[in-house]
Amino acid sequence: MTEDELIENPLQALSIISETINSTYEIDVLLRNILDIALKTVHAQRGVILLYEGDTLSVKIAHNIAAQSEDHLDQFSRSVVYAALDTGETIISYNIVDDIRFNNSESVSEQKIVAAACLPLRIRSQPVGAVYLDSTETRGRFRPEMEPFLNAFAHQAALAIENAQMYDKLIKENRNLQKRLVTQNSIRGIIGSSPAIHKVHEMIRSVADVDATVLILGESGTGKELVARALHYSSSFRDKPFIACFCGSLPETLLESELFGHKAGAFTGANHDKKGLFEEAEGGTFFLDEIADISPRVQVQLLRVLQEREIKRIGENTVRKINVRIVAATNKDLREEVKAGRFREDLFYRLNVITINMPPLRARGDDVILLAQHFLDRTLQKLNKTLNGFSEDGIDALRRYPWPGNVRELENCIERAAVLCKGEQITAHDLQLDIPDVDSVHAQPNGKKNGRKLKEFERTLVQKTLQESNGNVSQAARVLGVSRRWLHYRIKEWGL
Ligand SMILES: Nc1ncnc2c1ncn2[C@@H]1O[C@H](COP(=O)(O)OP(=O)(O)OP(=O)(O)O)[C@@H](O)[C@H]1O
Ligand SMILES: [Mg+2]
Repeated sequence: MTEDELIENPLQALSIISETINSTYEIDVLLRNILDIALKTVHAQRGVILLYEGDTLSVKIAHNIAAQSEDHLDQFSRSVVYAALDTGETIISYNIVDDIRFNNSESVSEQKIVAAACLPLRIRSQPVGAVYLDSTETRGRFRPEMEPFLNAFAHQAALAIENAQMYDKLIKENRNLQKRLVTQNSIRGIIGSSPAIHKVHEMIRSVADVDATVLILGESGTGKELVARALHYSSSFRDKPFIACFCGSLPETLLESELFGHKAGAFTGANHDKKGLFEEAEGGTFFLDEIADISPRVQVQLLRVLQEREIKRIGENTVRKINVRIVAATNKDLREEVKAGRFREDLFYRLNVITINMPPLRARGDDVILLAQHFLDRTLQKLNKTLNGFSEDGIDALRRYPWPGNVRELENCIERAAVLCKGEQITAHDLQLDIPDVDSVHAQPNGKKNGRKLKEFERTLVQKTLQESNGNVSQAARVLGVSRRWLHYRIKEWGL
C-alpha cells in the first residue's frame, strides 16, 4: 500500500487490513500482525502493544523496544500512552519538539524521538490496551490527517483481539472440561475410554465390595497394581489398610516371615515378635504381586491361608484368624505355570475366583492418545514447562507403535520426550519410537528377510488384533485403523 493509496482509498486499505487480522485466532500471531500493520502504516521505527491484565498494563509484543510493562517504557512513551488511554482518543504528535503536551519530557531528547502516536484500544467504550508507535528518524506518516484511519484500524484491532481472547478462553475451558471428563469417567486414575478398559471399570465396580479373592492378569506395565489399588479404594473398606507385597523380589524365608510374621527367637535375627503383612492388612486388602514367582513351600502356606482364613506366625503355635480381601497379580500365564508344574493347581483355583484381565495397550485403540495427553500434562506441570501437545506425526507414531511395555513404556516415553522437546509440540522425532515396518516384522534373526508377502503380514496382524480384542470386530477395526466392512470382508476371505 502506498501512501497515496492509503489516503485516497482508506476503505480499501482497511478492508485489506481487516482481512489480515481476522485470518487468525492465535493471539500471538494476531498481535504481531496488528503491530506490523501499524508500524508500516505510519512508518514507525518502534512500536509496542500493551493490554490490560486486571489493573496492570502489560507489554504483549514489542518492536525495537525492550519493555515488559508500562513501567519499563520511557517517561515520554508512557505519557503518550496515558494521554491516549485517558481521553480514549488517538494521539498523533507530528512534531514533538513543538508539541506542548509532551515536549518537556527528557526522554524525547535522550531517545531522539521526532514523532509519535498512540491508538487506544477500546471495547464497548472500555479501555483494554493501546498501540504505541514512534519514530526517531523521519516523521513518516505521523500526520493529523491519519487520525480517522488510525481510529478505524484501532477499532478493528480491538475487536479482533477480543475475539482471539474469547477463543483462547474457550479452548482452555474445553481442555479442562475434557480433562475432568476423563478423570470422572475413570476409577481412581485408571484412564481410558476404550471398550476394553470400560470392561475393567465395570469389573472393579461390581466386585469392589465383595470380599472374594481377585486375580489380576496382564502383560507387564498394563496397570495391574493400579487396578488392585482401585479395587481397594472403591470398596467400603477403603479406610482400612492396603498392603502390597512384591513376592518375586524376596528370598523364601524372608518372604515367609514378611507374610506371616514371627515370634522372637524363631530364627537368628528374630529379636522381637513381629506381625506379618496378613495381620497388618486386617480389615483391608492384601495385594500379592508377582504371585507366580513364589516357591512351592510358600504356595502351600498360602493355600492354607486361603482355605482356612487363618495364619500362624513362624515359631508360634497360636492360630490367628484373619479378615482380609486378597488380591493377587502376575504377568505370567498362570495356566502355563500350572501345566509346567511350577504353580500348584489347587492354589490357582483358590486364587482364580474373580479374574480381571488387563488388556495390552495396543488393544485399547485411542486410549493411547488419552494416556499420552495425561502423562504429558502431568510431566509439564512437574517441569513447569509449556508445550502445545503433540504434532500430527507424533500422534501418528503413538498410534502405530505396538507398545510391548504397555502403559509404563508410554509413561516413560512421554516423560523423556517432554524433557527433550525443544519445539512447541512433541513430534515423532521427540518420541524416539522404533516403529516396526512390514519388513522388520518378518526379518529373520540372521538379518535376512524371509520374503513373505504383504498379504500374509496383513493376515497375521488382523488375526492377532482380533484375538486381543476378544473377537470384537468394531474394536479390532478401530485398533487397525480400517473400516468394519473391510475387516468383515477379510475375516470371511481368510476364514478367521
Ligand atoms: N489406565 C491407566 N491410566 C493411568 N495410568 C496408568 C494406567 N495403566 C497404567 N498406568 C500407569 O502405568 C504404570 C504401570 O502400571 P502398573 O505398575 O500398575 O502396571 P503393572 O501391570 O503392575 O506392571 P508390572 O507387571 O510390570 O508390575 C504406573 O505408573 C501406572 O500408574
Ligand atoms: Mg506391578
